[in-house]
Amino acid sequence: MLSCAFVNLKPGVGKTTSAVWLAHALYELGLPPLLVDSDPAGSALRWSELAGGFPFPVIALPVGDVHRRVDDFLGGRQTVVLDAPQLEDHARIARSVMRHANEWIVPITPAPIELDRMAPIQTEMGDVQSLRPQPARTAVLLNRTNRPGTTRTGPDADAREVLAERGFDVLDSQIARLDLYSQSFGGPVRVQGTAYMDLANELLKRQACE
Ligand SMILES: Nc1ncnc2c1ncn2[C@@H]1O[C@H](COP(=O)(O)OP(=O)(O)O)[C@@H](O)[C@H]1O
Ligand SMILES: [Mg+2]
Repeated sequence: MLSCAFVNLKPGVGKTTSAVWLAHALYELGLPPLLVDSDPAGSALRWSELAGGFPFPVIALPVGDVHRRVDDFLGGRQTVVLDAPQLEDHARIARSVMRHANEWIVPITPAPIELDRMAPIQTEMGDVQSLRPQPARTAVLLNRTNRPGTTRTGPDADAREVLAERGFDVLDSQIARLDLYSQSFGGPVRVQGTAYMDLANELLKRQACE
């Protein structure tokens, strides 16, 4: 089973956008997920409502025992995507999400202020790892990058280098800053040909390598 959670200390980093797009990518790949909205703000659930429903189930579980509840809703599904609330305000819920997910994805913009926040995130991740029977995989997703592809120079490449030096696993897939994503809230999502398809394939590959 692949259970991915988007986590960060802060709001506004692209957790909900990434969760919704990744869930659609898995659906388009023939692995329809369960999408769990654990943010009390309920943005993923609201998005699905405005869009007239998603082609897979979306449930709201903004509670501190989400890790014990998710499996009740799985049916035969092999993939779960969890949208966690920001750790700084909802630590109990976010930690519970991290107990369920076997892949933690930290979306960040390649900017100095966000890189600086990685130290407290790392501490938090260490604390939650100790609550788990097996450690989760952890990865950084560069979001709102200047360029779509991986480049060798510029702020995106600098951020990759800094993160790698600090021991983070930075995903090869990265998400460019595009109107396609900033305007997508509330509408249906078609992923084919976008970076979220690369992300889904990369996450499935990481899972297969375990
Ligand atoms: N790759 C992107 N390019 C442009 N805008 C983005 C991108 N990812 C997210 N956004 C925008 O950034 C804002 C915050 O994203 P959101 O997914 O709601 O973050 P979070 O769930 O972490 O609070 C939203 O307005 C969203 O549309
Ligand atoms: Mg959100």
